[in-house]
Amino acid sequence: MKELTLLGGARLSGEIGVHGSKNAALPILFSCLLFSEPVELANLPDITDVSAALSLLSSLGVKIVRKGRGRVLLDPSSACSDGCDLSLSGSLRGSLYLLGATCRRFPGLTVPRPGGCNFGARPIDLHLSVFRAMGLTVSESEEGVSVRGRPKGARFHFPTVSVGATVNAILSAVLADGRTVLTGAAREPHVLDLIAFLRAAGARISLPAPGAVVIDGVPRLYGVRHRVCPDMIEAGTYLLFTMATGGEITLRAIPPGELACLLPLLAGMGARIGTGVDSLCLARTGKLRPVSLTTAPYPGFPTDLQPQMTALACLADGESVIADPIFPTRFGYVSELRKMGAKIAVADGRAVVSGGSRLTGRNVTAPDLRAGAALTLAALAAEGESRILRFDRIERGYAALTRNLAALGASVTLSDGGA
Ligand code: UD1
Repeated sequence: MKELTLLGGARLSGEIGVHGSKNAALPILFSCLLFSEPVELANLPDITDVSAALSLLSSLGVKIVRKGRGRVLLDPSSACSDGCDLSLSGSLRGSLYLLGATCRRFPGLTVPRPGGCNFGARPIDLHLSVFRAMGLTVSESEEGVSVRGRPKGARFHFPTVSVGATVNAILSAVLADGRTVLTGAAREPHVLDLIAFLRAAGARISLPAPGAVVIDGVPRLYGVRHRVCPDMIEAGTYLLFTMATGGEITLRAIPPGELACLLPLLAGMGARIGTGVDSLCLARTGKLRPVSLTTAPYPGFPTDLQPQMTALACLADGESVIADPIFPTRFGYVSELRKMGAKIAVADGRAVVSGGSRLTGRNVTAPDLRAGAALTLAALAAEGESRILRFDRIERGYAALTRNLAALGASVTLSDGGA
């Protein structure tokens, strides 16, 4: 259990490189089980979720060779489910992708119900409906979920856009017999990165219309090299940190188009933004203005930036309204922000934030990854010292966070708070 001690008040200023996307890395890593040839991945972020995924794959017999920073060779040719240890998967929501990736190779493999961030109900009914539509038999038990059978192409419409269920549908369809047509599917950059990776390996996947994905099953995939796409949530989080502290930041290795959902909002709140081909710089000018937004699937405002934006709104000059219909209960962190002086009312999946609060450093606990990033933002802007307990939850998804904050001028000390 780690904790971060942070002295608020420093204006963040400097330049950092954006890492590879967590939400792309996890499905791509698990999809390696569809291959019988080695696959080389670059730009994997050094985060605990990626280490946990690599350990899971290793326990399934995938040979893993680390070839330098962010670069890993995975050889799944002798993968085997005998004696595998899936206990780690309980802490990793992405482990659900094992179902789609192994339904042919290890039929009946029982995958524990997924962990990951705990911010309310996170159903998996759509994943299971897709599997059933593809002719697979789904079994649920206390130990977890398993699927067996030979996947067959099918038509499936997602009544709700789901990143996870779209990924599982693609993974089961890539080697299936026949054509799968998905409509209402997710089109997040991390889903498109998975598709680009699989296409480069010989998968036949097309995107004929918004929300539509057509997959023609192929007999096999071929070994390939792939560079994981940049993490737009990490990039967005650093922009919000900078807005909170009134500083100036340059981000490298991020095409600004990826942040089209965020940059106009930040401009409206008082940011001056300059963009390059794969870089951008942001400086806050004057007082922060309030914001109103509603989360939506890509290209809408991501639910993964909702907690950080709510924390930023506490510092704005006026009332902000932030709604999260994707995960209406994703406001559990608000009680921690209130300890620091925030004035936020939450009802029906919507936060009404009375801005202009003076935040004060406190001991707070990160309830989950993005909520932890929101508390870090509040601590950066607060007067005095904060201790963020369970900082390990934040390290699940942000590579080199403490180092980056220190390089940008924040006063931070990471310590081991014990078990
Ligand atoms: C979601 C985000 C994703 C983010 C991730 C981690 C969206 C659309 N998805 O992905 O960008 O990286 O959280 O925070 O923004 N749902 C069902 N049944 C299911 C699956 C999902 O009803 O079987 C509902 C969920 O309750 C939610 C919506 O669909 O309201 C989207 O969930 P989903 O995209 O599946 O969640 P994640 O894959 O975790």
